[in-house]
Amino acid sequence: MSSENTKLYFYPVWLRIWHAVNAIGIILLIITGFSLQSGIDSTFINFKLAVNIHNIAGITVAINYLLFFIGNFVTQNIKFYLIKPMGFIKRPMKQAYYYAFGMFRGMKAPYPLSEKRKFNPLQKYAYVGIMYVVVPIVIISGFALLFPEIIIEKVYTLSGVFLTAITHSAAGFFISIFLLIHLYVASIGKSPLENFKSIITGWHNIH
Ligand code: HEM
Repeated sequence: MSSENTKLYFYPVWLRIWHAVNAIGIILLIITGFSLQSGIDSTFINFKLAVNIHNIAGITVAINYLLFFIGNFVTQNIKFYLIKPMGFIKRPMKQAYYYAFGMFRGMKAPYPLSEKRKFNPLQKYAYVGIMYVVVPIVIISGFALLFPEIIIEKVYTLSGVFLTAITHSAAGFFISIFLLIHLYVASIGKSPLENFKSIITGWHNIH
């Protein structure tokens, strides 16, 4: 895969639909979640409106997550998310060095993308962590907060609802940080917009 300008069809239609719905839903959740944190008297967004938007966006993101989860297993996309034990630390470290120093000194990317490698090791770790750990946590805790009667009353001296709410906020916070890093990393390419075009058209340019 070293030819001059190869195009690879990285993002099939189902994945692009999932990604677009997920991106819009999560942005709405972050904005309304942030507003809800500041309490019932928040002047940012009317509390009731924020609750309604947050609930609808949350349910949409949760249902849409099934598309991601099932789609990955039904198609071959899951293979890009598998982490090999060999070089478990060394590979992401090499990529981190490239992001922190190498790319500013004209170094070649240590893990160029190809038909077999859609993500570099750091991207892979971030996507696995966010999609298979943090997003499920936010969905499960959000579902529990929607039906608080299913939450256990006390864990030692602490209220179960309180612990669920803290877990939900912390996971939401992680997703916000992920999104900022995700947007920055996605802007690294031959031109800043190249990867954003790819997730819309489906085609990724290999230089
Ligand atoms: C405005 C919001 C977003 C934009 C503009 C955006 C942009 C992109 C771009 C350009 C790619 C392809 C290049 C790459 O892999 O870096 C991508 C892939 C991906 N994004 Fe996003 N993203 C957004 C929100 C999100 C959110 C909120 C999540 C998860 C919570 C997410 C998860 C992913 C995943 C898992 C992939 C890889 C999908 C695959 O090929 O299997 N993105 N995104």
